[in-house]
Amino acid sequence: MIKLSKLSKEAIHAIIEDSLAFASGKRLRSKEPIFVANLFFENSTRTVVSFEMAERKLGLEVVPFSVQGSSLNKGESLRDTVKTLESLGLDLLVIRHPDDNYFHDLQDLDLSIVNAGDGTGHHPSQGLLDLVTIKQEFGSFEGLTVGIVGDVKHSRVANSDADALRRLGAKVHFSGPEDWFDQGAMMNGTYRNFDHLIPEVDVLILLRIQHERHSSKHPMASQEYLTKYGLTRSRMEMMKSGAIIMHPGPVNRGVEIESDLVECDKSRIFKQIENGVYTRMAILKHELEGRGFEFVPWE
Ligand code: CP
Repeated sequence: MIKLSKLSKEAIHAIIEDSLAFASGKRLRSKEPIFVANLFFENSTRTVVSFEMAERKLGLEVVPFSVQGSSLNKGESLRDTVKTLESLGLDLLVIRHPDDNYFHDLQDLDLSIVNAGDGTGHHPSQGLLDLVTIKQEFGSFEGLTVGIVGDVKHSRVANSDADALRRLGAKVHFSGPEDWFDQGAMMNGTYRNFDHLIPEVDVLILLRIQHERHSSKHPMASQEYLTKYGLTRSRMEMMKSGAIIMHPGPVNRGVEIESDLVECDKSRIFKQIENGVYTRMAILKHELEGRGFEFVPWE
């Protein structure tokens, strides 16, 4: 799974249903040994740990791989590394990489690639776990209004979420610093003033400032960012009673959201993390079943 735009609506719905079944306690394991490895070229807490949890819960054989200790540091290319792992018998790799579309010359190889984030491109497993969290809350996507707010231009989460949410029937609007909004990249999405948008949203998705992808550090102080573009208590009080707050994490408390609100009643930020394990189980099952592997109930 490289990007959500390559998945049909039917496949997205099937993964959501499998995720919800795993969340309700369904337990499956692989019928035969399946070998997987996680290659993370960028920092991660949630994605790397939840993929490994998901792999172990499905009974997969997780082969340790450290980018730092690998022959990549002797000049081997990513393609040659992946081809080496294919020759060694790996069935599936989960890869996070700082380059957009790092996977473009890996797709002819005889193993599955699950994209755990490519530069500013895509983060399909985050997009799917966000959909699972919204489905749990509202039961469907039709007619929901979703606000995606913050560093939209540099966010692979915004790309993945916006594409899938629109296809499933939600209205998506963006807000944040206007020069961090890319009309083209955001599929002609609308940019809205945050204070006008906030009373309308059912789902508010806040984004971290992606300092590592900015050519210069944004000069705005944390307090100024929070006041202009962040979720303050007074903005939270303008939200509908049933509306929820989401954030892919990691959260910069006091920047994109006032610290106390991270764990408020409307927040689903830790629920998203919990759903990450179930959703990644469903993604791995989908990928591996597509390669002919079978899953059976745990005895
Ligand atoms: N949301 C997300 O990708 O978090 P990590 O960078 O911790 O994996």
